[in-house]
Amino acid sequence: MTETASAPIGIFDSGVGGLTVMNAIIDRLPHENLIYLGDTARVPYGNRGAETIRRYALNAASLLSTHQIKALVVACNTASAFALDVLRQQLSIPVFGVIQPVARRAADYSETGEIAVLGTRGTIRSNAYQRELLNLQPDLNVHPIACPLLVPLAEEGWLSGSVTDQVLARYLQPLSSTEVDTVILGCTHYPILRDAITGVADGLATPKTTLLDSAKATADAVADSLAETDLLRDDDEPVGSHRFLLTDVPDGFVDTAELFFGRTLDGPCEHVDITDTTPLASPTTSS
Ligand code: DGL
Repeated sequence: MTETASAPIGIFDSGVGGLTVMNAIIDRLPHENLIYLGDTARVPYGNRGAETIRRYALNAASLLSTHQIKALVVACNTASAFALDVLRQQLSIPVFGVIQPVARRAADYSETGEIAVLGTRGTIRSNAYQRELLNLQPDLNVHPIACPLLVPLAEEGWLSGSVTDQVLARYLQPLSSTEVDTVILGCTHYPILRDAITGVADGLATPKTTLLDSAKATADAVADSLAETDLLRDDDEPVGSHRFLLTDVPDGFVDTAELFFGRTLDGPCEHVDITDTTPLASPTTSS
């Protein structure tokens, strides 16, 4: 195993939601050392402007770079939508986003050619999913739906019940006049709302809908790509270590984090300040 292969993978998200992606990466790559950075002081990113999101993403990448990471996973859909290009320009390591892997899976999977994308306002406004899907298959009919209330609902742990169902019914109503058979969960928080979303979507769309989750698709893409470039730790190495860096430790952090992580936080949680990290570069483009 090379020295580079033994280095950790950095994972970055606006807050705790990206732990759904880290969870999927641990399932797929149990021997990897992982360093998670959650920008919990500045979450949510979903309603912010493009320049701000790029600046935050560059701060986070800059901090993670000081840990000699061998690859960066941008677990946040909103940051992937706005900052992936600038991060790839600035970093000399592989940078993975969460949008392309699940878009590929959805384009392959859909039989009706009608795909819904659920995401934050920012992700939907960026058109990143729509662009990716139409690049893959120009005749797809894509239905983007911004669902801003789902992030706070998930963080409150309201994963089922009448309020959650009513919110979902309102957001998903446009599906009732479509042939959507594939729904992309284009936000870190939505995998834990999977059962509620399935229940409401199945009652609305004509065919049964399948929900595809960007966390699993990203974990597979990271694993395949790092294997191809010989950047994975050997399978006979011990189980990997996990560290959690946070820009704030909010009330009830551990419970909320474990809800998204789907397992016990099995490593140290450290407070970091990324606002004064030397930015990798100033963002120069606007949306
Ligand atoms: N992590 C964000 C995403 O996947 C959701 C939370 C936020 O708005 O920051 O888009």
